[in-house]
Amino acid sequence: MDFSENDTPKTRLYGRRRSHGLKPSQWQYLQESVAETSLLHFTDAFEKRVFSHIYLEIGFGAGEHLLAQAEACSEAAFIGAEPFENGFVQAHQKAARLSNLFLHNEDVRLLLPLFPPASLDGVYVLFPDPWPKRRHQKRRLMNKAFLEALALLFKPGGELRFATDCLDYAAEVIRLIEESSDWRWKTTTPRTPHTLVEVPCFCKATTQQILKAHTSFFARPLSWPETRYECKALQRGRACCYLSALYGAK
Ligand SMILES: C[S@@+](CC[C@H](N)C(=O)[O-])C[C@H]1O[C@@H](n2cnc3c(N)ncnc32)[C@H](O)[C@@H]1O
Repeated sequence: MDFSENDTPKTRLYGRRRSHGLKPSQWQYLQESVAETSLLHFTDAFEKRVFSHIYLEIGFGAGEHLLAQAEACSEAAFIGAEPFENGFVQAHQKAARLSNLFLHNEDVRLLLPLFPPASLDGVYVLFPDPWPKRRHQKRRLMNKAFLEALALLFKPGGELRFATDCLDYAAEVIRLIEESSDWRWKTTTPRTPHTLVEVPCFCKATTQQILKAHTSFFARPLSWPETRYECKALQRGRACCYLSALYGAK
């Protein structure tokens, strides 16, 4: 599968693999946990146990959203992909007691081909690296090709959650979803009271137009546990956009 647009290399991972060095104990933990969660072992758990639903979180960071979901629903399987080692170790250490959580220290693009078509009940892409500079935007994970590849893995009615504090990224994903016949908006998500966002005048005209038509997406869905990145963005007063789309004909 090639998720690239323009001339982005197929599997090049942009962004950090690690920040500050891991402590020796974390390093050892990483070696052990990576071995036990390698792609080779990916299907083992699914052969041994039947899960009611299967969800995937892409770039789970330190795992706040995914862990809370897995704790709340023990019959469903929650799979996470996070190549950033520091985040992976933190999440994996907290997750050890959950038998329905499967964390992978991998680029998700290596994991996706392992899923059969129409196998996922939900995919979460929460605050992906925004790459705000124009010349870096082709590095963004979510683009038309990636969304189309994800759609093949969805069961009808499955939910795609996407969140970002990068306004033009939000507008671009809204546009991709609205232009595709694969998706419809989930309108029943209970959200925090509506906070009308002043769309900054420095945004491109098309971005302003799209965002002004969808200001309700700037209210937090109550059932989405807050992530670390989101918490920092909100503390800095940044507007966050939360999209929820269902797979299946409009
Ligand atoms: C801005 S952080 C947000 C982390 C977390 N979702 C949160 O909201 O706190 C984006 C994360 O996506 C991860 N990421 C980037 N490219 C990825 C890829 N190809 N597959 C899986 N994760 C990826 C990065 O390592 C990073 O941890």
